Amino acid sequence: MPSIEAEKKEHSYVTAITLAVLLLVVLLTCVPYLVSIALAEGPPQNTADASPIFGVTIPPGYKQWELIAPAEEAAPLDELRAVVGNQTAIDAYQAGKLPFPDGTILVKRAWKRKQSPEFASATIPGAATTVQVMVKDSKKYAATGGWGFGRFIDGKPVDEAQHRTCWGCHEARARSRDYVFTRLAP
Ligand code: HEC
Repeated sequence: MPSIEAEKKEHSYVTAITLAVLLLVVLLTCVPYLVSIALAEGPPQNTADASPIFGVTIPPGYKQWELIAPAEEAAPLDELRAVVGNQTAIDAYQAGKLPFPDGTILVKRAWKRKQSPEFASATIPGAATTVQVMVKDSKKYAATGGWGFGRFIDGKPVDEAQHRTCWGCHEARARSRDYVFTRLAP
């Protein structure tokens, strides 16, 4: 007949094994879930779609963003433009806040100018030409005023040489406004 001591020992042994099995089950259930979260929040879906030098991508949903201002570009480009921004950008504009906070994203959309088929004096957007993006991250892009740049045609980034020109022009001409030309349209 086993002593009380031995029985107690066996009992705690069973409890320990049960707990270990439970822990294993919990871990095995959670790990794939955690891995999927890590992957979803990881690097951009396709690094081929990121701009050279800066690694900027076209932000999802930008076509629904609020308008900051339209613009027009003379010949030879003959383009209509619209600069739009994410909520961080719009809030900063409305508060008149400079420099723009980290997380600001500005997108410049552009189209060929086209005459309205219904009304001769009206100009409307024709084919989309480029999408240009500026992302504020003061640490990551410290060497370029805190801005990362991306220029895209048909969703694909243009070459590195073109990306080398962005900072120079924005730095030279828009320094006093945190390197951003566009003002909020009245
Ligand atoms: C030669 C000067 C010049 C160069 C080079 C240049 N930009 Fe700009 N950029 C402008 C001007 C002027 C505006 C404002 C007028 C307009 O919207 O066309 C502007 C506006 C922008 C805007 C809207 C925010 C703002 O500053 O008003 C973005 C985004 C932008 N540029 C991205 C880029 C990217 C990306 C590159 C490089 C591929 C680039 N730019 C190169 C002159 C330049």
